[in-house]
Formats: sequence, C-alpha cells, structure tokens
Amino acid sequence: MILVALVVVIIGVGILSLTLLAHADVETGEEIPPSANTSEQVKLKQLSDYYFFEEERSQRYLEYLVVYPNMAPEEVIVQVNLDLDTIPYTDSTPVTNPESLLVLTNKHNYLPRSYEPADLVSVGDILIRSEAAGPLQQLVAAAWDDGVSLYLSSGVRDAAYQEVLYNNLVNSIGVKWADLQSARPGYSEHQTGWAVDFSPSNYQFYETPAAYWIEENAYKYGFIVRYTEENDKMTLYIHEPWHIRYVGSEVAQFMHDNEIGSFEEYWVRYIQHTPSVQRGLPGMPVTGMVTGSQ
Ligand code: DAL
Ligand code: ZN
Repeated sequence: MILVALVVVIIGVGILSLTLLAHADVETGEEIPPSANTSEQVKLKQLSDYYFFEEERSQRYLEYLVVYPNMAPEEVIVQVNLDLDTIPYTDSTPVTNPESLLVLTNKHNYLPRSYEPADLVSVGDILIRSEAAGPLQQLVAAAWDDGVSLYLSSGVRDAAYQEVLYNNLVNSIGVKWADLQSARPGYSEHQTGWAVDFSPSNYQFYETPAAYWIEENAYKYGFIVRYTEENDKMTLYIHEPWHIRYVGSEVAQFMHDNEIGSFEEYWVRYIQHTPSVQRGLPGMPVTGMVTGSQ
C-alpha cells in the first residue's frame, strides 16, 4: 500500500514538473504566467530588444498592439511610454522638474499649478526664460534680415491666465475643439517659460513666409516647432506653426539632423531612457549623442 502511494506521488510530481517546464522561458528558465500565449511571448521578446522597453509596461504594449496590430514595435513602445494608451488628463503624471530645459509638458504630464519660472526676461512685449532670450532675439533679427516679418504675441503664461484662455475657447468652440488647440491650465508649455507664439497665432499663420521661415530656421537658434502636422498623433494638438519651444541648440540640431519631429519622441529615446547604458540594441541614436540631464 505504501509502495503504491509512493509511486502515485512520484508520478504526480513528474507530471507537475513537466507542466511547469512547459511554461518556463527556455532561455532564463523563468516561469511564464499560464495565461500568456506563445505569440505574446514572441511579441514581447521583439519589443524587449529596444533599450527604451519597460518591462512593467509589457501588458500595455500587448494591448496597444491589439488595437494597432500593424504598428512597428518601436513605435508601440514610444507611444505607450508616453502614456498615449491612456486618456489625456486622466492619470496624468505630475512634472517634478518644471524648471528644466528639457521638461516635457503635454496632456499626460502637468506642471504644479503654482509654478512660475524665476528668471524671466523681456523680449519685446513678452517674457521668456533668460537662457532662451538671446537666441530668440537672434532668431527674430535673422528673420527680419531675410525680409520676413515676425511679431511675438505670447510668451510665459501662468496657470490662471491659461485657464482664462482655455475657458474662453471652450465657450466659443466647445471642449473637443478647444482641447486640440489650447492646453488646459497646468498642461501648457507656455507655463514653463520656454515657449513663445508669433502673431497671428491662428490659422492665418499657415503657409505664410513667416511659417516657412520658422520651419526652416528655428533649430539654428535652439528652437523647435513644437506641434507639427506630421506629429499630431504624438502631441495631440493641431499643427501650430506659430508656436516654438526652446530646447537649446544641441538638442534642436540633433532633432533636426535625425529627423525627430516631436519633442515627445526625443524625450522617450534620450531623456526617459538614455541609450548609452545598453549599446548594440535597436533604436540607437545615429550620432551617439546622449543627453543625461532633464
Ligand atoms: N496652444 C498650446 C497647445 C497651448 O495652449 O499651450
Ligand atoms: Zn503657443
């Protein structure tokens, strides 16, 4: 009787081991949750080749791939790392480095309500962070030298003023359209003091000599056109050729040379994650430039 029981136990343990082995990662031996199927494992393996892959977002990458089955793996990671799989303004992240040159402020990352930069200076009628003032003056002067009229219309805006602007727009065109053109208070890059608008800050600016000049030349002075037509899925705003953002000449030049069209994409690849630590993986910078600070 004891012998029979022993045989039963041995067989039971054997079956259990085989079952567990069937669910173990062949390379690491780590157990795979029974719910994960092979095709998900293959997809995750492919995604994890990128240095900006975040293991804790694995399930979200997979869910995003269900919605966008033809999206390139690299793009899936970028978009999920930017929380584009979540609804704007809900579960958004508080910005902890509002004074930083490379701060990311968008519909998923908001500034402290009371934040106001301490080092604002005037350029014409607007205020901007002191580091960006000289380059902005040079940019405007260069445009005029080229025969292009540029008029500054807006610089830093505190959260209270942004709220007034946003609410006015909501009252005139409704919340859906307002959200495509105006940031909610706390979510505007203008509050950082790194962004300015040129006049007219509306549709009349499209396809003007001023718009083309800015598109061609802003990077030479350390500015980027922050909301482009090609990147509206990333920025979640309409094309705003009148709105430029200072990022410094090194980053602006790098984005230009590597055709990185949105600050969001730059942020994921070079700030949220820096490629220097994992050499040899896909998604490396073309020139090897690494920005470690925010
Ligand atoms: N128009 C930009 C998105 C802002 O309101 O900050
Ligand atoms: Zn603006």
